[in-house]
Amino acid sequence: MANPSAPVSGDLTKSLFDSPVDFRSEAIYFLIVDRFNDGHDALGDEEGSEQLDQKGLFDETRQDWGKYWGGNLQGVINKIDYLKSLGVTALWLSPLFEQVSDLQFSRAPMHGYWTRDFKRINPRFLKVGESNSIDQSPTLKLLVETCHSAGIKVVLDIVCNHSSPEINGCKGVVLDDGRPLADFNDDGKDFYYHEGEITDWEDEFQLIHQEMMGLATFNEKNINYRNYIKAAIQMWLDAGIDALRVDTLKHMPIWFWQEFTTAMKAHKPGLFMFGEYGFSKPWEQRSVEYANNIGMSILDFGLCDGIRFCFSGQEPGGFHQVERILGHDCVYHRANELVTFIDNHDMPRFLSIVPDSRKLDLALVLLSTLRGVPCLFYGTEQYLNDSTNGGQDPYNRPMMDSWDTNSHPFVLVQKLLNLRQNNQALALGSHHTAWVNEDFYLYTRNFRDSAVMVMVNKSDHDHIVDAENIRMPDGTYQCLITGYPVTIERGRLFGYTVHGNTAMVISSEGSPVKAPLVVVFQINGFFTQPGQSLAITGDCDELGHWDHAKAYRMEYVNNNTWVATIGFQCDQASLLNYKFVVLQANGDPIVEYLINRRTLLPQSGRIAIDCFWNSNN
Ligand code: NOJ
Repeated sequence: MANPSAPVSGDLTKSLFDSPVDFRSEAIYFLIVDRFNDGHDALGDEEGSEQLDQKGLFDETRQDWGKYWGGNLQGVINKIDYLKSLGVTALWLSPLFEQVSDLQFSRAPMHGYWTRDFKRINPRFLKVGESNSIDQSPTLKLLVETCHSAGIKVVLDIVCNHSSPEINGCKGVVLDDGRPLADFNDDGKDFYYHEGEITDWEDEFQLIHQEMMGLATFNEKNINYRNYIKAAIQMWLDAGIDALRVDTLKHMPIWFWQEFTTAMKAHKPGLFMFGEYGFSKPWEQRSVEYANNIGMSILDFGLCDGIRFCFSGQEPGGFHQVERILGHDCVYHRANELVTFIDNHDMPRFLSIVPDSRKLDLALVLLSTLRGVPCLFYGTEQYLNDSTNGGQDPYNRPMMDSWDTNSHPFVLVQKLLNLRQNNQALALGSHHTAWVNEDFYLYTRNFRDSAVMVMVNKSDHDHIVDAENIRMPDGTYQCLITGYPVTIERGRLFGYTVHGNTAMVISSEGSPVKAPLVVVFQINGFFTQPGQSLAITGDCDELGHWDHAKAYRMEYVNNNTWVATIGFQCDQASLLNYKFVVLQANGDPIVEYLINRRTLLPQSGRIAIDCFWNSNN
């Protein structure tokens, strides 16, 4: 190759696998940097507030919700131990890019979505006078190091679709590491679309080319723009960022995202990316197309609505609202990788729509035990909430005001996230509902020999359980939340009382596969019927040397997804030939229609191989 775009460094074989297995077991915490913790030191404070206040963007009294309130990266660093003790393993920070420095209708870009320079850090989040270059800022470096030594990954929130809106005659002025690059009002370089505001949200052309809330919309057809944004984000990856949350997916074409994710993953193999496709639903085809085809996962707005409606009653059905969403899981290639949440910075917090902390506790149990990667919005673990104006933006972004590691919600979340770490059924497993009605929900999550059973009673009254076909090994367990014993006998639970507004969780921890190399294989695209199951056949001991009877049996996740965690012991990196096969009750296998799949396996580590079924029709 004459000019490789990304020379392969380190372990060549590992860089072939760009899907991170680990993210399925992460627990994400999303915070707004300005509203989390003020870490300005006492000496710098006075001087700092003066500097920050030069343009009237800062309000130290924290009365003006549109202005900066002083949270910064040092503040985050000071609370990493707190987050670690909660069980957080990935920290999603609101965008850190340098922002326009002005007020629009008395609102400052404390949220970070009005970028002026994608290659520089917002100085308000740094120490007074510190360099805001990505590779020179000591505070950014310290943040990354502190997170990493606490076992926490850093997730950067990025925006590719737009820069900034019209403010005092300026719009979309963007710098390239301090040098002028683009200006919406003087756009000789064609960096922007100039098509006005979106009026029809069903119109594909408008979604891509027109503006949302007056934000200057980049022209992704311009290769100079694409080169700029790719180079900028790669600089952040070089600074140690581990994963990306990507804004406004829906407003850029699929081809752009495919090119972008490829470039990011070539730069940082194993990078996990998830994006915001606003109000995605599993029955909304365009959002599913994005989720399955752009090389990154999406935030699960469907399940968010399902859980919120379940408790708020905004739509009827109670737990059937949740079941309805899960019933569509097979439309996704990687339902277990969807990032799940119950509220965020763009909607009222859960307590603003359901003002009952007991219900929030139950929603947290669902969030932590249903499929997907749970993402907690900052402060939820302390019941942080402000219901002014129904808790709409900006009142959903209060200043964090408590760090009590003994508070009831903190301890609850801690227990739940601890369970996610210890029982792989939550990260990888299938979902089986044993009982559901509007007010009571009993389900298990299962993977290999690991299982978790959850019961949630959202009514104010006791519920007497009468359920069978519960996929838990027989035995007596102690509920991780209430401490009460629960006995499962021949898969049944009869006459057992679950009190009103109570959740119970029991866990059976199996033994995950351990080997020098563990490969998590996943196959999508063959919709199995009852009696059919998937297996992997191949040219090694583990895969039975092409003997279908000895093929490695995969685990059912849903009709469209089967997973296997297989341990390999190789003396060196080696070639594997394999293919998938459907085993049927009548003994006739359906074998994939292709010349063998072929891949180079590293000698050690944990990698993911995601495949799509090849058929001859
Ligand atoms: C979605 C973000 O979550 C929201 O907060 C922001 O204002 C818009 N995108 C525009 O960037």
